[in-house]
Amino acid sequence: MRFATDARIAVDALADYLRDSENRIGKVIQQPPLRDLAEALELEPLIRQGGLTGEAFRAFLERYLAVSTRLHHPACMAHQVAVPHPLAAVGSLIDGLTNNAMNIYEMGPAASAIEFVLINWMLGKVGWTPQPLPPAGPGACGGGVLTHGGSLANLTALMAARGRVDPEAWQAGIRRDLVVLAPEACHYSIARAVGIMGMGRRALRAAPVDADERLVPDRLPGVLRQLREEGATVMAVVANGCSTAAGLYDPLRETAACCREHALWLHVDAAHGGSALLADGLRHHLDGLDLADSMVWDAHKMLRTPTVCAAVLVRDHADLDRAFQQEASYLFHDKDQPGFDFIQRTVECTKAGLGLRLFLAIASEGEAALGRFIEGQAAFARSVAALIRLRPGFEVAVEPESNIVCFRVQGSDELQLELRRRLLETGRHYITTTEFRGRRWLRITAMNPGTTLEDVERLLDELRTYCPL
Ligand SMILES: Cc1ncc(COP(=O)(O)O)c(C=O)c1O
Repeated sequence: MRFATDARIAVDALADYLRDSENRIGKVIQQPPLRDLAEALELEPLIRQGGLTGEAFRAFLERYLAVSTRLHHPACMAHQVAVPHPLAAVGSLIDGLTNNAMNIYEMGPAASAIEFVLINWMLGKVGWTPQPLPPAGPGACGGGVLTHGGSLANLTALMAARGRVDPEAWQAGIRRDLVVLAPEACHYSIARAVGIMGMGRRALRAAPVDADERLVPDRLPGVLRQLREEGATVMAVVANGCSTAAGLYDPLRETAACCREHALWLHVDAAHGGSALLADGLRHHLDGLDLADSMVWDAHKMLRTPTVCAAVLVRDHADLDRAFQQEASYLFHDKDQPGFDFIQRTVECTKAGLGLRLFLAIASEGEAALGRFIEGQAAFARSVAALIRLRPGFEVAVEPESNIVCFRVQGSDELQLELRRRLLETGRHYITTTEFRGRRWLRITAMNPGTTLEDVERLLDELRTYCPL
């Protein structure tokens, strides 16, 4: 059978890739010119002629994997993308073959059931009321949905906020006085969402922050007063849990208290940091999250889940049910059917069975193990920061609160960019850079359970060779 043969070829090749990557064999990253790759992979001839199966497929896959970025390589410390749990990756294969586009229950009952239960599990972690299992109606409870990524999840949450503040917007279009208040360190997907909603870039206003770019709730009332005087109406306040650049958490309890006092929607972008909810030693960073109105939590960041799988959660399910169609939500719940249609809560019409990969990432070892992993990665980041501080000529930006470490080598912003360019050239270590407090930093994101302090030592040694201190 062609599927079984080709799948076995793929599994064997991937098992070798995984083993080699985990054993630090091969480069973490290499970037041949696209033109060369298109030729080496014989992309155009294969599109024209077909025939990619069996031995031809094996040869293709070998060439493909040889130049793929190795996330399982312990020297991979770059982006906020999960090093997927192997069983969760099998979930992507199962989802690909079954292709149950489960936004409507009948199109994927098993995948829908998984998503329903996972959303409830996440709601419970936040401290919001899970939704009763169908056929029971929702009643007073939270709600949520999995989307294809955190950016879409942020847009969805802000759509829900818009529906609460301006219920007419769906029919009449957006009001010109609406603004979103967010720290400048928020992820760019917030600005995109504001743009997509047609509010105009000017509608994204800077929330007051401290020197570490953290929201300062005490100064919110003053900014709110100023906005009111301008004639603006705040549609939502956005807080980071945690920020993308440095991984720092905004003070949620105080922010939420201020939002409640002023009857404002609080959205917490916890795409990266939401997983702290699973870790006893980190949960305090999200203290007060339950007082927010919506939050976003990416599974494909810290939950060992293959891309993509993000959750948008709301304290009151009705806000999400209203986000995309003002009248249909309760009609839907009255429908006589055995399951639940998520389609009313999403931008997407066709949607992958995203929950399976997350479910497998959790269920293979249990949630406590995942919690230990998340806590371990944050502890590792603190050790990395301590190690870097010991190196003369190196500077750490701020004590890590999550698994992100920003650091720099004495010198200009251009030097940091040049150092990363040199690292990319050799492909022995893979890190990113970011702006924080107005300066350019090198940035380690400790996603990989296999990365050790020795790996970081080797990275620092390599940096030193480019820049004798
Ligand atoms: C805080 C935060 N929000 C949103 C996003 C965007 O999520 P996604 O890449 O899943 O669209 C990111 C991505 O890094 C992020 O760090």
